[in-house]
Amino acid sequence: MEAKKDWIKDLVIYQIYPRSFQDSNGDGIGDIPGIISRLDHLSDLGINAVWLSPVYRSPNDDNGYDISDYQQIMEEFGSMQDWDQLCLQCHQRGIRVIMDLVVNHSSDEHPWFEMSKSSRSNEKSDYYIWRNPKDGKEPNNWASVFGGSAWEYVPQRGQYYYHLFSKKQPDLNWASPQLREEIFSMMEWWVKKGVDGFRVDAISYLDKPLDFPDSPAPPMPDGYSPSGCLVNGRPGTHGYIREMNRRIFSPFNILTVGEVAAADTEELTRYVATGREEFDMAIPFVPPVVEINEWSPGKLREEIARSYDALKQDGWWARFFSNHDKPRQVSLYGNDQEYWEISAKMLAMLLHFLPGTPFVYQGEEIGMTNISFSSIEDYNDPDAKNTYRQMLLTGASPEEALKQAQMVSRDNARTPMQWDSTPNAGFTTGTPWLGVNPNYRHINVQSQKQDPFSIYHCYKSLIALRKTSPALSRGDLEILEVPEDTLFVLKRSCPEETLFSFHNFSEHPVKIPASLIPDTAQPLLSSYDRQGGYRGDILRPYESVIFRLPAGE
Ligand code: NOJ
Repeated sequence: MEAKKDWIKDLVIYQIYPRSFQDSNGDGIGDIPGIISRLDHLSDLGINAVWLSPVYRSPNDDNGYDISDYQQIMEEFGSMQDWDQLCLQCHQRGIRVIMDLVVNHSSDEHPWFEMSKSSRSNEKSDYYIWRNPKDGKEPNNWASVFGGSAWEYVPQRGQYYYHLFSKKQPDLNWASPQLREEIFSMMEWWVKKGVDGFRVDAISYLDKPLDFPDSPAPPMPDGYSPSGCLVNGRPGTHGYIREMNRRIFSPFNILTVGEVAAADTEELTRYVATGREEFDMAIPFVPPVVEINEWSPGKLREEIARSYDALKQDGWWARFFSNHDKPRQVSLYGNDQEYWEISAKMLAMLLHFLPGTPFVYQGEEIGMTNISFSSIEDYNDPDAKNTYRQMLLTGASPEEALKQAQMVSRDNARTPMQWDSTPNAGFTTGTPWLGVNPNYRHINVQSQKQDPFSIYHCYKSLIALRKTSPALSRGDLEILEVPEDTLFVLKRSCPEETLFSFHNFSEHPVKIPASLIPDTAQPLLSSYDRQGGYRGDILRPYESVIFRLPAGE
């Protein structure tokens, strides 16, 4: 068997949100044949793994993160034969296939739930979390992430079931050994079909405090209190993850990425330090509103330093600025107006310079930006709709509520992929399920492929560089001390090679402190290549440069 850690370190993972990637049959919804038709794009970019957001059968309350059959494909996305073709064609191109695995909860339309809710004494009665009413009401004050109570009453049982997310996403009861067996055998079935890894959804919530105490958190405007602090990262959850690792991850040598809500680096490390035998990498989940309000370059630099120190001996990093739950990275961390192209390249150059496995979220490679729909009706994301409702409850005007929803909505990342400048950006010949960003006329794959200085070509160069650079794929990281919080000066080195980089994380020019890097360092790539490249001394807004030291220095 090939050495596991080695292939993980050489991956660049491309995340596909299938609903928005490519429609093949004109129904306005992306599908698996559509993905197959775009594999040339992925090969051309140079990535060697795809992570598919869920493609399982689902009534789509949360776009597939509510699964009603783990061993069938969502009808709108195609058939199992289509999936088999996709897997085969990816493998033929040297692309690994990573499936999203959603096992904190299922859909309420899963046959397990349908049986479980039918009585208190059926064979799956303990597959979900059931509690008696308290004083004729919900068992406690917990809020669901998407608004309202986390409990839903079912008359057949005379009980409430618990759902951290929407009421159509009941939480599975991991304390049931029989349920765990069913999940492990389902995972084994996929691995035997050829899956190379799993990105495991919302996995830090598996174990619940069985006495379900009231949450001390202040209530939301609708009266219920967030319960994250009580259900997140409990020791029992780590036990279940280790069991998953023993039963499936390790014996089948697959790649695993856990999506975890972790308050700090220490907590994150508990999921990924090698000796813990849990995941290979973790994707920390931070609610968009928190990220938008609290993010700063200085904070980012500190986090990079802390997580590097924590894991450099015995762990590995998932590197990403974007996914389907976050605002578009160029809109959030860069400047999607005057410095759109330059700041998009700067972010790419920073991310791909860091140690760890880079993730590219669909559309990031062409600098896709946030969207602002003019009505809440145009949004699909349940989280955005909840934000809107909660704002109205606090007395905000509809305009203010819409503004907030526009800012935090996960739909910012979910508008259809912009392939070309034909109607609907070449995504569909029908009516797209979610509005296409009107800027597709100038931000699209086709035009950027033809332009050697485009964001797309910057990504291609970075991915190619990682493949040939031992310092980038395996080298040590040093973060050089500089006075400005907005300037990152990084060094990657290994016995064979030394690279340096500058990243100006601001709209202002910044002077490079003298003798930070040797004069002999050769610029390899710059976010200002279109303008002639690196000029030295003063970095322009969002300027980013990667240098290599001549061999032997
Ligand atoms: C995290 C997923 O990334 C998100 O899209 C989803 O809504 C929740 N987990 C619930 O599955």
